[in-house]
Amino acid sequence: MIRLIKGFHDILPEDTPKWDFLVRTAKATLEAFGYREIVPPIMERTELFARGIGELTDIVEKEMYTFEDKGGETLSLRPEATAGILRAVVEHALLRQDPILKLYAIGPMFRRERPSKGRFRQFFQVDAEVLGDDSPQTDAETILAAYCIMENIGAQGLMMEINSVGCPVCRATYREVLRNYLEPHLSVLCDDCRRRYERNPLRVLDCKVDRCVEIAAKAPLISNRLDESCREHFDAVKRSLELVGVPFREEPRMVRGLDYYTRTAFEIVHEELGRSKAVGGGGRYDNLIKELGGPEVSGIGFAIGLERLSMGIPDDDPRFARSIDVYVAPVGDNALNACFTVVNALRRAGLSCEARYTAKSLKSHMRAADRCGAQRVIMIGEDELARNEATVRDMTTKEQTPVKMDELVNFLLGEKR
Ligand code: HAM
Repeated sequence: MIRLIKGFHDILPEDTPKWDFLVRTAKATLEAFGYREIVPPIMERTELFARGIGELTDIVEKEMYTFEDKGGETLSLRPEATAGILRAVVEHALLRQDPILKLYAIGPMFRRERPSKGRFRQFFQVDAEVLGDDSPQTDAETILAAYCIMENIGAQGLMMEINSVGCPVCRATYREVLRNYLEPHLSVLCDDCRRRYERNPLRVLDCKVDRCVEIAAKAPLISNRLDESCREHFDAVKRSLELVGVPFREEPRMVRGLDYYTRTAFEIVHEELGRSKAVGGGGRYDNLIKELGGPEVSGIGFAIGLERLSMGIPDDDPRFARSIDVYVAPVGDNALNACFTVVNALRRAGLSCEARYTAKSLKSHMRAADRCGAQRVIMIGEDELARNEATVRDMTTKEQTPVKMDELVNFLLGEKR
């Protein structure tokens, strides 16, 4: 048997109703906020991610599925959606049509991380981006959109954590403060962090190696080094969140795992999974669009991981139960043609309908109807054929009603729950 690739997963038919619910709810919520869908490809030139996410991030350094194709181009499966969405916006000059764009994308992302509970190598994100608006109200509204997705889905035990990671100006000052703090610990840091210390010391704060985590825990905080305009921006974001009653917690140690963030950063954390396995995360990026060859326009966005979101919702929720309007049971071979015609008529009338043509006994039909979650079963056997009727059984009340063949559709449409 050829097995699934490690860290990848199948979404089986029994799980797709829940999955579909998550996707539909996220889409409906984002569309109510004015976002429109964009569908970028799952593969891009590696350079896009290296430039967008940052050469020294774990994602780009260690986790990308990168290969040379037969034409010698270096390509990568996307580890996130933001860079690809922005590439499309710049390439198609979408900001010329509308100076403020609100876009969302849903699909698989790929990171070669160590698989564990809630950590996959292929996982799905709902990703939302707002481009061309640098107001703190837009930061708050973006966080509100993420919060509303969670609320509409009914996810429990989640907490919104927010921070400001400053702008390039205050970050430059902080970088020096951080380097000074890290210097005496250099011999203890992992090899990667020693390199990060030179080129991008903020990444040390995001390292997952235990001894680096310990050192990072006592590092000075960026939130204490914000310049006045970043501080004011952050205060305004918090005020707007309070206005609309979004509960949040300030988390001054959050730096996020991607390099493009400026100012507001946020994560949605599950009580049990903790921050290393956040359900969602995002933030503002005021220089990324320009960095990718576009105009000097700011942006903010977030992504929610569907697998992690799904973990917070019980599988046996009745909303995800398998259900079909009608199961049609031919009892005996003589009823096959009549049943085939009935099934076709019912489906054309808009009823969901299932029939099994090989089952022989009524008992096996009833078992199949139960498995399908049928609301009603139509039984057609020799007796029914002789009377040009069908027997309709209500699977909840167990009541059985004889109905003339040519009245079946109207009867079922009238009775449809
Ligand atoms: P991120 O924090 O890297 O942000 O990922 C967002 C979410 O994707 C995580 O909170 C998590 O739910 C899910 N996720 C990430 N890695 C895995 C994994 N290995 N297995 C399962 N789920 C995972 C971004 O990707 C940014 N692009 C978000 C953003 C959009 N920022 C601005 N705009």
